[in-house]
Amino acid sequence: MKKVPIILVAIAALVALPLFAANDTLLNLQKAYNAEMNSRAQYLAFAQKADDENFGAVGSLFRAVAVAEESQANTHAKLIKTFNVAPKATIITPVVGTTEENVALAFKNEQAEIDTMYAPFIKTAKAEKRMESLQSFRRAEKAEGEHATLFSATIANLETLKGSGPVTYYVCPVCGEVTQTIPAAHCRDCGKHTADYLTVK
Ligand SMILES: [Fe+2]
Ligand SMILES: [Fe+2]
Repeated sequence: MKKVPIILVAIAALVALPLFAANDTLLNLQKAYNAEMNSRAQYLAFAQKADDENFGAVGSLFRAVAVAEESQANTHAKLIKTFNVAPKATIITPVVGTTEENVALAFKNEQAEIDTMYAPFIKTAKAEKRMESLQSFRRAEKAEGEHATLFSATIANLETLKGSGPVTYYVCPVCGEVTQTIPAAHCRDCGKHTADYLTVK
């Protein structure tokens, strides 16, 4: 049998290595994209229900968080495309309850996204040294915590919000931070200039 020089074998192995490198992070980006696009659809449906039930301020919050989830999905999509893969989401028609039930479910969803989605995704991105994705997952996890806090405050004050009018929110188009008080110059979480924030009512 003809002998292949050892140096050629070594070069071939080096070239092939990236092709076989673990990339669970790409799968996780797709899962996060799918989850955020579904959260968006769910919160838009919940916003409509809140308006119908005369909880105007709750409708505004759901719309703002829907825009935030879409922003996070867009950020994940950009990263997915860097792997020459198309982002894909399968949208499930949301089941809409009463506003009281919807806010409770939204709070649970945000918490679940932190615990069962972003926390393990961060671990994997770290292990695979996918630094951009790691940063994106960390920012999304922080924003989900802020969303959970907003929903938890709404649960506590729901009775007083009956008959309320719309409220203006500002949303960071990169990390999905939702705030009623726009930061002075840059997003506290991702550094995006606040001139680019999205206004939602
Ligand atoms: Fe969220
Ligand atoms: Fe941000």
